[in-house]
Amino acid sequence: MSLTPIPLAGVIGSPIAHSKSPQLHGHWLMTHGIQGYYIPMDVAAEDLENVIRTLPKAGFVGVNITVPHKERVLDMADQVTDRATLIGAANTLIFLKNGQIHADNTDGYGFIQNLRQNAPDWDPKAGPAAVLGAGGAARAVVTSLLDVGVPEILIANRTRIRAEALQSEFGNRLTVVDWVQAGNMFEDATTVVNTTSLGMLGKPPLRVPLDGLRKGALVTDLVYAPLRTRLLVEAEEMGCVTVDGLGMLLHQAVPAFERWFGVRPTVDSAARAAALR
Ligand code: ATR
Repeated sequence: MSLTPIPLAGVIGSPIAHSKSPQLHGHWLMTHGIQGYYIPMDVAAEDLENVIRTLPKAGFVGVNITVPHKERVLDMADQVTDRATLIGAANTLIFLKNGQIHADNTDGYGFIQNLRQNAPDWDPKAGPAAVLGAGGAARAVVTSLLDVGVPEILIANRTRIRAEALQSEFGNRLTVVDWVQAGNMFEDATTVVNTTSLGMLGKPPLRVPLDGLRKGALVTDLVYAPLRTRLLVEAEEMGCVTVDGLGMLLHQAVPAFERWFGVRPTVDSAARAAALR
């Protein structure tokens, strides 16, 4: 008699206690009646490769990767998707049956799906996008916005050189704006995205002047704690369409869950509630 192994998955980062992914995947495993587990793992940089090489032998079908390991895991993968190569980081590993490691990045996909689900009338081609921040999250946002046809991206970052690095990589559809003039980007922008950590609980507030926001523009914040950031509250008061950042977290998890457990999960209010628990 052969026993079917219970599939294991998880998330690797450091720190990891704050991660919402275990609640979310746990909820989906339960609603789909799948016998499996999703485990948070705090792994230091020096142990990362050993842990990743060991997990498939311990019954893991894959793992999510979060800060600070998203870039380094690319070196350990045998296959890397185009979008992960473009972003320069992976958030999802799939341990293939032949022993190989497949690396993907679903952050940009999650970002766009969140907007499509919660702002169905959003037209990325309607005008330029304004992006605040030029860190790891901004790379995923910029690649996915260009991918869905945003004609031009204005980008401002406190450390200007990081925005310039993105511009030199992604070319003339990106224009760098000085951080102190970030508010000027909003005048023509039909899409506005905060990818910085400003406005997050425990972090400084986002002080960029918002009075230039266009009525009807789509405004979204990657920060989801709190759910309604000052950016979203004020943008809504000014007649913008606003989408919070929790949906990105939910949607980026969908392709991974489907690959690991063989069922495409639904992003609905129950999944949102599970991630907030
Ligand atoms: P992530 O992967 O979440 O994008 P990150 O790469 O550390 O994380 O980037 C964080 C972003 O928030 C960056 O754009 C960062 O600006 P810098 O490149 O100048 O560091 C921005 N950020 C964080 N704290 C900030 C602050 N106090 N003022 C302005 N920008 C800030």
